[in-house]
Parts: sequence; C-alpha cells; structure tokens
Amino acid sequence: MKRIGLFYGKSTIKTATVAEKIQKAFGEPKIELLSIEKAWQKDFGAYDCLIAGASTWFDGELPSYWDEIIPVLNTLNLKGKEVAIFGLGDQVNYPDNFVDGIGILAEAFEAAEAKLVGLTSTDGYRFNQSKALRGDQFAGLAIDIENQDEQTDKRIRDWVGKLKKEWR
Ligand SMILES: Cc1cc2nc3c(=O)[nH]c(=O)nc-3n(C[C@H](O)[C@H](O)[C@H](O)COP(=O)(O)O)c2cc1C
Repeated sequence: MKRIGLFYGKSTIKTATVAEKIQKAFGEPKIELLSIEKAWQKDFGAYDCLIAGASTWFDGELPSYWDEIIPVLNTLNLKGKEVAIFGLGDQVNYPDNFVDGIGILAEAFEAAEAKLVGLTSTDGYRFNQSKALRGDQFAGLAIDIENQDEQTDKRIRDWVGKLKKEWR
C-alpha cells in the first residue's frame, strides 16, 4: 500500500482545516498529516506520494514556516515521488497574487525532481495574475474560503477523487 504524507502548517488555521478535510475525503490508505513546523528533510523521503499545502500571505509569499523549508527542498532528491499541491488564497482582495503559494511550492518540489500531479481548471475563479498558473490550469487545488467557501467541500472531493485514481 502506498504511503502518503501531507505536509502543511499547523499554525495557519484555515490551511489546517483544509488538510484535515482532505485526509477525511481520501479515506484509505489513511493520509499521514505532518506539520511543516516540525518536519525534517528526511520526512519527505519517507513517503511514496506527497501532498503539500500552504496559504499565500504578504502579497504573494508563503507563510514563514514554508519559507524556511524551501531552500532545503531545493537540495533534496525526490525523484520517483509524486506531489500534489493545494493552496488557500483570496481572489477578491489579492487578485494579482491569487494563490501564488501553489506556484512557489510547485517550483520547489519540481526542483527536487518530484512529479507534479493534481492540476486543476481555473474555471469559476476570477483574478488577474497568479504564480500558480501552468498554462491555463492551476498547478494544484486552489481554495478560497473568504469568497467561495460554499465550493470548498466539492473542490476537495473532486480533487481527492482524481488523486485516488492516480495513486491506486
Ligand atoms: C496579510 C495578508 C496577506 C495575504 N496575501 C495574499 C496573497 O498575496 N494572495 C492570496 O491569494 N491571498 C492572500 N491572503 C489571503 C489568505 O491566503 C487567505 O485568507 C487564507 O484563507 C488564509 O489561510 P490561513 O489561515 O491558513 O493562513 C492574505 C491574507 C492576509 C491576512
């Protein structure tokens, strides 16, 4: 059975809530939740499949705990592992940096040679610019609790459904 580790910030409350929802929606095999505040570089290597989640703060930057991990990630070799990314943002108040954190994480994991999975359509979101864009898709799952919370559960369900097929 595949081991799946989800890395997220415990101190970012909404991100933590989304992480728990993803774990619940996934069911079996049970995703292990790991707080990035306590994660060490060897922890990424312990899993076959990775999920990484962060909100975007400070006009297009990652919350500080992830900021410290990014330089470490760049030195790792995660070849053969797949990574799916989710991010939280606010498209109304930050339309020029919407969920930039997804793009920053995607770039860091790709630098470590992990394969990115779980890209999603931008349909249904309105924003000007985002580092999360890969062509006409987001490089992961974008969640906007401030403006579209009624869609959060369905977005998580659909994304998790895709990941379960990938990681069967
Ligand atoms: C000071 C501040 C800066 C923010 N900057 C951005 C941003 O650049 N892009 C974005 O999409 N969201 C931005 N947001 C919105 C947050 O990402 C959003 O509120 C998210 O739900 C917070 O989740 P968290 O509690 O897990 O950190 C910002 C929020 C705050 C308070």
